[in-house]
Amino acid sequence: MRRFPTVYLDYNASTPLDPVVRDVVIAGFESWGNPSSVHHVGQEARALLDDARDRVASVFRCRPSEIVFTGGGTEANNLAILGAARARVSKGRHLICSPTEHPAVLQCFEHLARHEGFEVSWLPVDAVGRVDPEAVCAAIRPDTTLVSVMAANNETGVHQPFAAIGRICREREVLYHCDAVQWFGKEPVPGMACFEADLVSFCAHKLHGPKGVGLVYLRAPLVLSRHMLGGPQENDRRAGTENLPLVLGLASAIERFLSPGVFPTRDLQALAHSLTTAVASVEGIQVVGPSTGRLSNTVGFVLGGSDSLALLANLDLEGICASSGSACSAGALEPSHVLLAQGYPPSLAAAFVRFSLGRETSAEQIRSVCDRLPAILARSRGC
Ligand SMILES: Cc1ncc(COP(=O)(O)O)c(C=O)c1O
Repeated sequence: MRRFPTVYLDYNASTPLDPVVRDVVIAGFESWGNPSSVHHVGQEARALLDDARDRVASVFRCRPSEIVFTGGGTEANNLAILGAARARVSKGRHLICSPTEHPAVLQCFEHLARHEGFEVSWLPVDAVGRVDPEAVCAAIRPDTTLVSVMAANNETGVHQPFAAIGRICREREVLYHCDAVQWFGKEPVPGMACFEADLVSFCAHKLHGPKGVGLVYLRAPLVLSRHMLGGPQENDRRAGTENLPLVLGLASAIERFLSPGVFPTRDLQALAHSLTTAVASVEGIQVVGPSTGRLSNTVGFVLGGSDSLALLANLDLEGICASSGSACSAGALEPSHVLLAQGYPPSLAAAFVRFSLGRETSAEQIRSVCDRLPAILARSRGC
């Protein structure tokens, strides 16, 4: 039995499935026909799929044909990056990316460089991890085909100047991909056009939708190289029978939680401020990230003399769910590649913790965490 009730502060990792969205998903399992079948059972599923696409496009203010459903954010990034880079090889093989991207973006670029003869320029970032649009301008060459810079960082919450980057790319006739997975639901999205991007990645489970479903917005008339081989689903852009129940859940989450965003920004700002103040008062702590130009739900810190695994384990012992943002390998957490790119030494980048707040986070929970934090952090340092 846990001594303390759970305090979930890991909303950038995933969010609880909303009960209304869950009912939509469950009802979707009744329409089990294959949307590609000619008979009426298949065509009933097809009608629901088409309707979901229309509704998503209406919220995003884009054309239904510009939406490609995928199996989540990782696949959306793979399809966008591999598909766009390979489709443009006749123009060139030079790509540009920021080193603070999610691994689902980084590893696509690394793969293209290592195995497919592409060259990648890695953009410099400043001390908070932000890309200067001028640096994108300077990195573009005649053979550049694709730039990828995310909307908001999953580890630190830092916003990137995506619209300025997108405009520069468009002027130079270079494709721009924006991984906006962490932006939706947290910041305003008047429509896909706000990203000024040719390709935008989205996934549903970051805003109370189901896991394993996402989408790529693909600005018409862009054509991608297929990254999965098989049937002609999704207008020949993503092979495989569509996962109708999850797509219906995704559409419901987008309709319900995008505008206004499901993350209560003003309340979260106040809660995040209390948490930051409590964290900053502990000796040896460095709060990560700027005070403005970031997701209001995200609070990060590093603690010298400790490491992420000890910190997360000690928090978890008291029921507090947080994250380090990086993967666990061989029983240890890798240093955060985001903080390394920002110039943190490896010892501090390996002692990073991220709290990310959300719809269900209460003032009482944050008060309780703030009260217990100094002792938990002291234990994590072996004091
Ligand atoms: C910025 C970013 N991109 C992509 C992903 C991957 O999304 P999914 O978990 O749906 O594969 C995540 C998930 O953590 C993310 O934070």
